[in-house]
Amino acid sequence: MANPDPYLRQPCLTVHGIPMVNAFALNWERIDSFQSRPDDIMVVTFPKSGTTWVSEIVDMVLKGADPEKCKQDDILNRVPMMEFVAPGKMPAGTDQLEVMASPRIIKTHIPADILPKTFWENRCKMIYVGRNAKDVAVSYYHFDLMNKFQPHPGTWAQYLEEFMAGRVAYGSWYNHVKGYWERRKDHPILYLFYEDLKEVMDWGPPPEIAKVAQFLGQELSETALDTITRHTSFEAMRDNPTTNYSKVPSDLMDHSVSPFMRKGTTGDWKNHFTVAQNERFDQDYAQKMSGTDLRFRTQI
Ligand code: A3P
Repeated sequence: MANPDPYLRQPCLTVHGIPMVNAFALNWERIDSFQSRPDDIMVVTFPKSGTTWVSEIVDMVLKGADPEKCKQDDILNRVPMMEFVAPGKMPAGTDQLEVMASPRIIKTHIPADILPKTFWENRCKMIYVGRNAKDVAVSYYHFDLMNKFQPHPGTWAQYLEEFMAGRVAYGSWYNHVKGYWERRKDHPILYLFYEDLKEVMDWGPPPEIAKVAQFLGQELSETALDTITRHTSFEAMRDNPTTNYSKVPSDLMDHSVSPFMRKGTTGDWKNHFTVAQNERFDQDYAQKMSGTDLRFRTQI
């Protein structure tokens, strides 16, 4: 079996004009030729926006809010990441998906413009999760410190420049969130926000969970919604070995550097951005996000 080491801590490669995790970019043909099924359910995000959280919610909804059914397997197998590949270490996403029973829940970070056409043509349902850019940048920075698939992020100051310039895996956060925001006008996309989920999570079922159920044509009782809320709280997912990524080999992800389930809050950016960085970021943000009515909250 091939050794994954040659792909670790390597610079991104470019696929269809977008910077991509080195290992994932090799043999991109497998993504371009991937066949969707009309009942596929996509969980789509820019990295670090709450993908795992919403994946677990979706799987709970489909499994009738039964935590025991979800705990039977790791989230990595229940919701495979389409573009993921770690030769010799872990199964490739496309291989997992090809043999998976329908309806499949498919995780991807691929931007709208380069998502294989098959998903648009089959009108596959997509649940998009957006999270404010500042918290995403902070979360991505810590993730890149612990995740060896990514190039080393350098200092926070250096990383923030790269993030703003879109020179990180999956490219520009700004284009990503706007891309799916536009597509939702003519495609079944449920566009959710991390901050909306987080805001109410501590005191009751967020309306977002009911929205997910409704979008997927499932009816859930109040009790079921309560169970999903408790099962997908940050603390529950952090302590659940099937959702906290603890099963990923430590030479690929080193949780002692920064755990995958790191803080799970809104506003941690305030502990990282200097006043000058914040001003520069806001100015640049206003330019890049001009012309869209898409709005994010940086605090709740
Ligand atoms: P932080 O690094 O800010 O803690 P993704 O799954 O897209 O990679 O996103 C990971 C981010 O979502 C991490 O953010 C992680 O802690 C947070 N997260 C995961 N599960 C969560 C939950 N149940 N509640 C709140 N945040 C969660």
